[in-house]
Amino acid sequence: MHIVVHKAKCQGHARCWAQAPNIFKLDDEGYVLLGDINVAQGDELLASRAVRSCPESALEIDRT
Ligand code: F3S
Repeated sequence: MHIVVHKAKCQGHARCWAQAPNIFKLDDEGYVLLGDINVAQGDELLASRAVRSCPESALEIDRT
């Protein structure tokens, strides 16, 4: 599973990072860094929670 980051939607709420700091990396201004994020096996539930926590819907799970 991986997570697609819609950078243009991210407003720097950092809730994703608060849920899963090992998965989501923020830049110096608190915006989630660009690019898809590969989620390790065993971290899927945590990652899903973090994706749902974003109030801007900037994160999307891609299970393909
Ligand atoms: Fe951005 Fe949403 Fe995380 S606004 S920093 S992707 S909680």
